[in-house]
Amino acid sequence: SLLRDRHEEKNRVPDDLTPEEQQELENIRRRKQELLEDIQRLKDEIAEVTSEIENLGSTEERKNMQRNKQVAMGRKKFNMDPKKGIQFLIENDLLKNTSDDIAQFLYKGEGLNKTAIGDYLGERDDLNIQVLHAFVELHEFTDLNLVQALRQFLWSFRLPGEAQKIDRMMEAFAQRYCQCNSGVFQSTDTCYILSFAIIMLNTSLHNPNVKDKPTVERFISMNRGINDGGDLPEDLLRNLYESIKNEPFKIPEDDGNDLTHTFFNPDREGWLLKLGGRVKTWKRRWFILTDNCLYYFEYTTDKEPRGIIPLENLSIKEVEDKKPNCFELFIPDNKDQVIKACKTEADGRVVEGNHTFYRISAPTAEEKDEWMNSIKAAISRDPFYEMLAARKKKVSSMKRH
Ligand SMILES: *[C@@H]1O[C@H](CO)[C@@H](O)[C@H](O)[C@H]1NC(C)=O
Ligand SMILES: *[C@@H]1O[C@H](CO)[C@@H](O)[C@H](O)[C@H]1NC(C)=O
Ligand SMILES: *[C@@H]1O[C@H](CO)[C@@H](O)[C@H](O)[C@H]1NC(C)=O
Ligand SMILES: *[C@@H]1O[C@H](CO)[C@@H](O)[C@H](O)[C@H]1NC(C)=O
Ligand SMILES: *[C@@H]1O[C@H](CO)[C@@H](O)[C@H](O)[C@H]1NC(C)=O
Repeated sequence: SLLRDRHEEKNRVPDDLTPEEQQELENIRRRKQELLEDIQRLKDEIAEVTSEIENLGSTEERKNMQRNKQVAMGRKKFNMDPKKGIQFLIENDLLKNTSDDIAQFLYKGEGLNKTAIGDYLGERDDLNIQVLHAFVELHEFTDLNLVQALRQFLWSFRLPGEAQKIDRMMEAFAQRYCQCNSGVFQSTDTCYILSFAIIMLNTSLHNPNVKDKPTVERFISMNRGINDGGDLPEDLLRNLYESIKNEPFKIPEDDGNDLTHTFFNPDREGWLLKLGGRVKTWKRRWFILTDNCLYYFEYTTDKEPRGIIPLENLSIKEVEDKKPNCFELFIPDNKDQVIKACKTEADGRVVEGNHTFYRISAPTAEEKDEWMNSIKAAISRDPFYEMLAARKKKVSSMKRH
């Protein structure tokens, strides 16, 4: 009742007003009422806009979450199949289809498998090659010595095992290094060759399987004449040697299968069982892998092999057989073609082999893996050696100015 009294009090028209004054008061009260209504309308509008903004925020957020989910899916796809992953990201507007954008994505590398990055960068398609170059350009090598630059580069992806791919990547690396450090080397070929000398030095010094550890003097003399016919400063070579000696290269996802097999003679010997060509019986033979050929002997002490299998053009795969730990050498594109090989008959005649495949059984699963790795390396090593040798010839034949 107090409230009601107040209300009545408020709306009460005092008795002592003239009619004009009463009218004036009426007007003021009406204006006040109108203003209150305006304020309420504005409040309602503000509330509406605020709620719209809030809704807008949550759809934006939802969109963002959706996007992040798709990017994560793209990364997963990329790790399984790099090309498909990139295609997925482009098709969903998560990545622009330009070599620069793709390179950025790989360089950031967030959530990406470095083996997959290496596979993508190693592909021979025009786009991949452009991406490779854009990727290398993102590396800053200015004022780094060659070992420091290689550390950075070799950590940004995993170098694939294939010679052609390694060649393209290291060529791009050498170009970039020389661009960032002009005047250090006479040519990118020099930088390329020295980079390999360093990677091989890393393995020689740090891989326990390599018995022959080069001294710094040997490293220096091994690299004579590689600077377009001239020598590199001894100080420079000494520094690089020391740096590697003190700390080996780290490579991502080190599965123990470093470049040892790619760069070093993977010689190996041991007893294996070999399935006959014409007569399908298993014979125990002493096998020696060397010079890109597989030799087999009846006894370890024999001077002459019973057979020679050149590994050129052959492939190797694991196979199932009644015998355990089997693998097979075969010609990849032609199953029925006889493999070029020779063997010695019982009477001493050397005849052509008659195998369309060689099936071999190792005593243990471990030895099978080791033989397969060594043979794979022997098969894939040659083209790389040829490329490197060709460059060495090129730079050392240049005349000293
Ligand atoms: C990206 O562009 C290249 C040509 O530059 C084209 O060949 C390729 O199909 C495009 N990829 C996608 C996923 O659109
Ligand atoms: C990356 O991929 C390679 C080859 O598919 C695989 O062996 C390796 O374990 C993967 N690394 C990680 C960290 O998932
Ligand atoms: C350098 O040597 C270490 C130790 O053997 C090895 O783990 C690493 O993979 C090597 N790096 C390269 C690039 O070969
Ligand atoms: C390997 O293939 C090349 C090209 O086809 C051929 O010229 C060469 O004779 C082959 N080598 C062997 C050992 O079969
Ligand atoms: C190789 O084997 C085929 C049958 O598999 C036979 O006809 C041919 O004479 C054999 N060649 C040699 C050189 O033994």
